[in-house]
Amino acid sequence: MLEIRAALRPDVSAIQAIYAHHVLNGTSTFDTDPPDVRFWEQKLATLAARGWPFLVAEQGGEPVGYCYATQIRERPAYAPCCEDSIYVRADRTGRGIGTALLHALIGAARDAGFEQMIAVVGGGEPASVTLHARCGFTEVGRLRNVGFKFGRYLDSVYMQRDLRG
Ligand SMILES: CC(C)(COP(=O)(O)OP(=O)(O)OC[C@H]1O[C@@H](n2cnc3c(N)ncnc32)[C@H](O)[C@@H]1OP(=O)(O)O)[C@@H](O)C(=O)NCCC(=O)NCCS
Repeated sequence: MLEIRAALRPDVSAIQAIYAHHVLNGTSTFDTDPPDVRFWEQKLATLAARGWPFLVAEQGGEPVGYCYATQIRERPAYAPCCEDSIYVRADRTGRGIGTALLHALIGAARDAGFEQMIAVVGGGEPASVTLHARCGFTEVGRLRNVGFKFGRYLDSVYMQRDLRG
């Protein structure tokens, strides 16, 4: 059974491991060195303090995916707009976990007061583009060749969803 719930401090090591795998093996993130557990503890605390959602998908008693939403830029007039981040454990992708997480995040971000959500899809990752399109996002822009990882140039695909109504 899959449960979507708020992320808690004991989830941090699983979250760190999930993201580290995608940093080291994929182009969906332009990070090249996985952040440590302390980074994730601070992020969890920061999001809690701001009232922004940080969710995990739990299956079999352990986190198998996570997502969060943060204001897209710090300048105050960006307050209506968030950016999402969503990662599923590599051995559990393609089973609907990302869809369940993103649906929950959309609701939680709306509850937190956000009106727009942006996905910045590194390398135009097909699974992420499909996931976001299925959840009502449309492509609104593409930055070409802005990343370089594993010996190739990468685009950033921007997708947007209106959270109102
Ligand atoms: C992107 C990601 C979060 C999606 O989560 P997931 O649990 O695998 O997604 P789901 O199983 O819910 O599938 C969502 C949709 O994407 C499709 N999909 C899944 N993997 C795919 C792939 N490799 N290529 C194309 N489409 C894919 C599914 O078929 C589904 O579409 P459908 O509803 O038409 O069947 C997950 O694959 C992941 O963590 N990938 C690496 C990190 C990443 O890209 N994160 C996003 C950063 S913006």
